[in-house]
Amino acid sequence: MSAIHRGDLTPEFYALNRTIHCVRTITVRPALPHDAAAVAGIYAPYVEQTTISFEDTAPGVDDIAARIDKSRSRWQWLVAELDDAIVGYAYGSEHRTRAAYRWSVEVSAYVHRDHHRKGIGRTLYDALFVDLADKGFCNAFAGITLPNEPSVRLHSAMGFEPIGTFRSVGWKFGRWHDVAWFQRPLREGPPTIVPS
Ligand SMILES: CC(C)(COP(=O)(O)OP(=O)(O)OC[C@H]1O[C@@H](n2cnc3c(N)ncnc32)[C@H](O)[C@@H]1OP(=O)(O)O)[C@@H](O)C(=O)NCCC(=O)NCCS
Repeated sequence: MSAIHRGDLTPEFYALNRTIHCVRTITVRPALPHDAAAVAGIYAPYVEQTTISFEDTAPGVDDIAARIDKSRSRWQWLVAELDDAIVGYAYGSEHRTRAAYRWSVEVSAYVHRDHHRKGIGRTLYDALFVDLADKGFCNAFAGITLPNEPSVRLHSAMGFEPIGTFRSVGWKFGRWHDVAWFQRPLREGPPTIVPS
């Protein structure tokens, strides 16, 4: 086969080549303590400016580091990187404390505002659900303050089904808010592994 020389390449090739170089890889990995600052930076605007989170005050870096540590001790906390920057995260947390609830897990995902609709939420959840199922969790639950069309769409796209709405369950920014709950199976049948 003869070598391809730069002068032989057509404008169409250069257009395709640029497109290929624009395809960037999303990397998902378990969160580490030093990710806390980036995670806190992504989360803060959602706390301070929206009802997506029911927290009043954005948690500091140490608080987020402790949350990552707690989540990873039993459930999982994943971060997504794009071009070596953390652009989103997803995690599992306790659903309820009583023993029979131990195979259920609450999940949530947050993506930096500049990086929505790039497949980051989906990539994080895909990895999180495999991990949680491997650990023995059987059902995932997500609570979404209404309205939040992107989150409802993401959860529906990931196989969640609506199971009911808590009316006026949260008070923030001077008014009541409804929270819709969604559920997705992670493992079928009776539990076979006790999450540790
Ligand atoms: C909800 C959120 C995590 C989605 O993350 P994302 O990376 O933008 O979502 P993805 O690009 O992976 O989208 C996956 C699928 O979800 C659906 N979806 C996500 N955002 C959507 C939107 N704005 N409109 C319509 N569908 C949407 C689509 O089906 C999409 O698949 P497609 O792009 O092939 O059509 C993101 O919007 C976010 O961080 N919002 C603020 C925080 C938040 O609401 N978190 C959830 C708390 S309950």
